Order: sequence, then structure tokens, then C-alpha cells
Amino acid sequence: MSETTAHRLLPDLATLPELDSERLHLRPIREDDLPDLFAVFADPDVMRYWSTPPMRDLDEARAYLAGIERNFAERTGFKWGITRRGHDRLIGTTSLFRLDGPHNTGEIGYALGSAYWGNGYAAEAVRRVCRFGFEDLGLRRIEADIDPRNHASIHVVEKAGFQREGVLRERYIYNGEIQDVVYYGLLAREFQR
Ligand SMILES: CC(C)(COP(=O)(O)OP(=O)(O)OC[C@H]1O[C@@H](n2cnc3c(N)ncnc32)[C@H](O)[C@@H]1OP(=O)(O)O)[C@@H](O)C(=O)NCCC(=O)NCCS
Repeated sequence: MSETTAHRLLPDLATLPELDSERLHLRPIREDDLPDLFAVFADPDVMRYWSTPPMRDLDEARAYLAGIERNFAERTGFKWGITRRGHDRLIGTTSLFRLDGPHNTGEIGYALGSAYWGNGYAAEAVRRVCRFGFEDLGLRRIEADIDPRNHASIHVVEKAGFQREGVLRERYIYNGEIQDVVYYGLLAREFQR
């Protein structure tokens, strides 16, 4: 399939759309979020099962934001800042990335500052972003790839209706550690708002 086909799948958006759910507001990440973005991604507890080591300084957060903006410009990935309605401060991020136009698929990602864990925020954000993926982007399938030891993350996708599809053994070397990965998938026809 041609690249033209891939681009036709994506709406003609000038900026990343803001999304609301019951308690959350998902919005583009801005320059003034850098200290909060850094606080999330510098925390070793948050980064335990992430694909990169904890950030060490604000410059890394700035480069990360530049990458987010580049991915949006190329329509290969969308990343939102997670905020609580009525509080503008960024408490985490969630994304749809590896957008694959010819196949109408994408992958979901999420990370939340550890002070905010255990409130159901990640599951709520994932459900809202999946709705955007299926209803606005026309995706057929959204995937998650998770370290099998990351029980909280597995809980998040299972609550959102994802099905476990299989394990790839010793798939990655992250932070010097060989890791298995478990794949989850959610199909548009299975998604319940
Ligand atoms: C994964 C993460 C986003 C979950 O955020 P959260 O807002 O606390 O998640 P939720 O509250 O929506 O749901 C978490 C569920 O997992 C459960 N849970 C939390 N920690 C757990 C653990 N160590 N073992 C088993 N279950 C756990 C919670 O009880 C909750 O289930 P419940 O709703 O049935 O009570 C958060 O832990 C995080 O940011 N982790 C670091 C980044 C990361 O690993 N991202 C995913 C990469 S694939």
C-alpha cells in the first residue's frame, strides 16, 4: 500500500485534539510542562518497565517534547499530557503511536506520576484514547506490549477490554536487562464506550 493511503486514514488536524473523560482532560504537552514531564520520567519507579532509563535532566525532557512534536507533524504518533479536570498540571502522558495506516492499527502507551497511581486514572485515559483511535482515526486494532511483570499495566489494559494474545520470550534488552513481552490487543468491534 502507498503512503498516500496511510495519510488518508488520519484526519486533517492542525493541532492535537484535546480529549475529555469523566475526571481527566488530555491535552497537548507544552514547553511549560517540562518540569512536570521531567518529574514523571525521572522517577525510577515509573521507569521500571519503560524502554528507556530515567531522565537525568530537563534537556532530556525538552528533547522528548521535540520528538513528540515531530511525531505529531509526521502523524506517526500522538501523545497527550494527562491532567485532571480543573487542574491544568500534567500528571502523566498517554499516547497512540506506531500508527500503521495501511493496516489501520496503532499501539497505546501510558505513564503516570507515582503520586497519582491507584485512582483508575490510567484506565480512564486509555479508554478515552482508544475511543479516539477507533472513532476518529478509524483504527481497527490497538495493541499494547507490556513486560509480564508489570501487573499494574496489565490490569489497566484488561480493564479497558484488551485481550492477551501471546508472549514473545526475551524480546528486548532494556536498561541492560533481557525482558519478555506480553502482547495485548483490542479490536474496534470489541470496544465498549
Ligand atoms: C501502569 C500505570 C500507568 C497504572 O496507573 P494507575 O492509574 O495506577 O492504574 P489504574 O488505577 O487505572 O489501574 C491499576 C490497576 O492495577 C492494580 N495494581 C496496581 N499495582 C499493582 C500491582 N503491583 N500488582 C497488581 N495489580 C496492581 C490496581 O489495583 C488497579 O486495579 P483495580 O482498578 O482493579 O483496583 C502506572 O502504574 C505507571 O505509570 N507505571 C509506570 C509506567 C508504566 O509502566 N507504563 C506502562 C508501560 S507498558
